[in-house]
Amino acid sequence: MDLENAPRFSDRFEFIPGENDLYSLLESFKKAGQDWIDLTISNPTKVGLVYPREAILHSLEKPESLEYDPDPKGTLNARKSIASYYKEKGHTISEEDLFLTSSSSEAYSYLIKLLCNPGEEVLIPSPGYPLFEFLSLLDGAEFNSYKLDQSEGWKIDFEDLNSKITNKTKILFLVSPNNPTGSLLTSEEFEKLKVISKTKKITLVLDEVFSDYLHKENPHQIDFFHTDFPVFVVNGVSKILALPQMKLSWIHVGGPTNWKKECKERLEIISDTYLSVGTPIQLALPELFQWRNMIQSQVLRRIGRNLQVLESFHSSHPNIAYISPKGGWYAVLQSPSFLNDEEFSFRLLEKEKVLVHPGSMFGFEEDSGSIVISLISETELFQSGLEKISAFL
Ligand SMILES: Cc1ncc(COP(=O)(O)O)c(C=O)c1O
Repeated sequence: MDLENAPRFSDRFEFIPGENDLYSLLESFKKAGQDWIDLTISNPTKVGLVYPREAILHSLEKPESLEYDPDPKGTLNARKSIASYYKEKGHTISEEDLFLTSSSSEAYSYLIKLLCNPGEEVLIPSPGYPLFEFLSLLDGAEFNSYKLDQSEGWKIDFEDLNSKITNKTKILFLVSPNNPTGSLLTSEEFEKLKVISKTKKITLVLDEVFSDYLHKENPHQIDFFHTDFPVFVVNGVSKILALPQMKLSWIHVGGPTNWKKECKERLEIISDTYLSVGTPIQLALPELFQWRNMIQSQVLRRIGRNLQVLESFHSSHPNIAYISPKGGWYAVLQSPSFLNDEEFSFRLLEKEKVLVHPGSMFGFEEDSGSIVISLISETELFQSGLEKISAFL
């Protein structure tokens, strides 16, 4: 077909970058049957964890799964089990304030639809989760980044944040523990954000998918659920139960009572339009939650061991900067040797067959020489990947 005369695609895709060199090299490895050590792996189902296989499969076999009784917010029992999960963590929430979605990504997409007219803006943390950019663009919103200040332990740079707010800013995304810096939002930051939210009419959306994976005591027990300003909390089983394939996440709606009522009416219209969460997983959720400790303790043990390996790697490479993460599944390493990060990652993969993420993918300044690695890789592979980085340096 002559594409000149073909129907036009939407402008959303104007940002599509060309194929990157790292990706092409990986493709050529796959074709040639060449193995590599993947230090970016964050798919928990591929890192040798032991799942309660029979119990998971059994929980998905409920006869009620053969009937379709959709509730736009998600089935009541599933929402009640999420409320119990929060109760165990010391937060009393109502199942009436929960909306189920098939993923955190979908939750974000709903919230952008709820709050942004086309062309309005969302603010995303930098360094931060790269998917926010795509999610915003696909939902017709513009995005801008606000800086986290490395010299302050990745706290929000409020001067930068304030300079990025315009009269089109509608959402401020927060991630705690943050991917990939492993930093936690503090009570002081949250107090300042409250003032910004109230004065500038900006809604906070907090991603707490890694909140069960803390590696240090968190002195900031913030109540994100009972606020007198709009705060949405996003979470899901992708990380809580290390079951991303089950496709179940949720949004908790928090804020002033009258605003919440209006908000829930609109969210219900969005949810009712898609009804995207499958019945079997909703029915299985209360049972699946029972395996939370068994699954999380394996992930935490794995991360603990990998952090020890990383500490000893760090002590034999004092020129590599590394701040041990307070939470989450990732670690950041920085060194002038990693400059230019994309080229470094390419050469490392080509020569040592080790894959790391270039930091610029997460918004690290290019001159920071940052790479990002996953902490859930199998420890032997993690260790030999680091040894190969050593040899390469
Ligand atoms: C900060 C953050 N939020 C959400 C997700 C994934 O969520 P989901 O699989 O539910 O879309 C990830 C995945 O790595 C993440 O890093």
